[in-house]
Amino acid sequence: GHLRSQLAFLTHRSVLWGASALGDPGARLVRRGTADPYPLYDEIRATAPLVRSRLGFYVGAGHALSARLLRDDRFGMPGPHGVFPLRAATEPVHPIEDSFLMMDPPDHTRLRRLVAPWFTSRTVARRAEEIERIVADCLDEFEGAGEVDLVPLFANRVPVQVICDLLGVPAPEHERFRGWANRIAPAFDGVNSVGEFERLRQVMLELQEFFTELIAFRRRHPAEDILSGLVHAKVDGESLNTKDLLATSGLLLLAGFGTTVNLIGKGALGLLTHPDALGHLRRDPGLAAAVVEETLRYDPPVHLTARFAREDAEVAGFRFRRGDQIVLSLAGANRDPAVFDHPDQFDPTRPNAREHLAFSGGIHFCVGAALARLEAGIALRALFQRHPRLELAGAPERGDGRTLPMLTSLPVHCPRRA
Ligand code: HEM
Repeated sequence: GHLRSQLAFLTHRSVLWGASALGDPGARLVRRGTADPYPLYDEIRATAPLVRSRLGFYVGAGHALSARLLRDDRFGMPGPHGVFPLRAATEPVHPIEDSFLMMDPPDHTRLRRLVAPWFTSRTVARRAEEIERIVADCLDEFEGAGEVDLVPLFANRVPVQVICDLLGVPAPEHERFRGWANRIAPAFDGVNSVGEFERLRQVMLELQEFFTELIAFRRRHPAEDILSGLVHAKVDGESLNTKDLLATSGLLLLAGFGTTVNLIGKGALGLLTHPDALGHLRRDPGLAAAVVEETLRYDPPVHLTARFAREDAEVAGFRFRRGDQIVLSLAGANRDPAVFDHPDQFDPTRPNAREHLAFSGGIHFCVGAALARLEAGIALRALFQRHPRLELAGAPERGDGRTLPMLTSLPVHCPRRA
């Protein structure tokens, strides 16, 4: 078994490498380690609305067709075993793979409906004070520290506490939880080696054990959190099975964590590198929402998604066969000059930033969008209110993920307050 997997991973990597060396746009799009993917998105968009990769799938980086495909119910999710094109692993290695994110209706509808009420704008608005407190506590921790890395100390800390509170993970467990989330986040691209595969299985097992215990606890001691809600929920008179419970908890943790880390980090980076925008925000803290929206457009946390044709279908002159895969660059759509003027400029005053596809579209539109917007707005406003003269203190660093390219380091200098 081990040798077979070694071989599968090796083949997978060499096929990908070979095709991308030949200039194949699909292989270049999904291959890890691309420094700056935006020129490639531009190249694909300029070639055609969809480009066929010799590896068998289509790739697209324009706005109109992406928005249309995401809303077309003839295209769906691959289910647990085909999340990412070209993945070599044959077993699910990531909690999201069994979750409703990867399902089509009616299963998707049934499960999404259970969590959606926790995430409406009105419901999340009630958490604003609590989020303000979490943010203020994080800021207190590095008050007066001089030079700090905002990713581990701030961008990475706020979301884990917010999502833990929402899920009902007790405070003493937050740190352990953060460790798992950080170890599992890079696997959004699928897995590229046996070692990586085994490390991930390990995290998955620990996480499942943890949720299993927490679920048992919430069965006996229900509280005002999502997990308690899910444990006691009835769909058509039946409770959720353990598999759906675990997958849904895992999805909420993972979908709500790395994405929001990126949003807060990239928002801070945008402000630190665009003094005009920071000036606007200083004069009017109400502009934080516009900064968040432009960050989502300019460099969204999630770059890629994929859809599969559920039947033979024709869209915009493309004839798809059932089972065809399409990889869409949401980040590429967000730089489409047909929709956004000067798309490569970070400009929080642009009137239509909200047309971005950072939260995807159609039935899988991010359920946590209102929470992410609220949380990032509070975090950015508070950060620059506390540290009006915050400055970059070194080069930011990025991970090599393609689906969720993480900002991994953002060194800043916080001058002491006069
Ligand atoms: C789905 C982005 C924050 C929970 C999605 C999708 C995207 C996305 C692009 C759809 C993927 C697709 O269509 O293929 C983001 C971004 C976030 C963010 C950019 C923050 C900046 C959150 C938060 C939560 C969350 C805070 C919850 C705590 C979910 C869930 C789904 C989802 C449950 C699956 C929805 C479905 O399949 O119906 N998100 N997300 N997300 N997101 Fe988010």
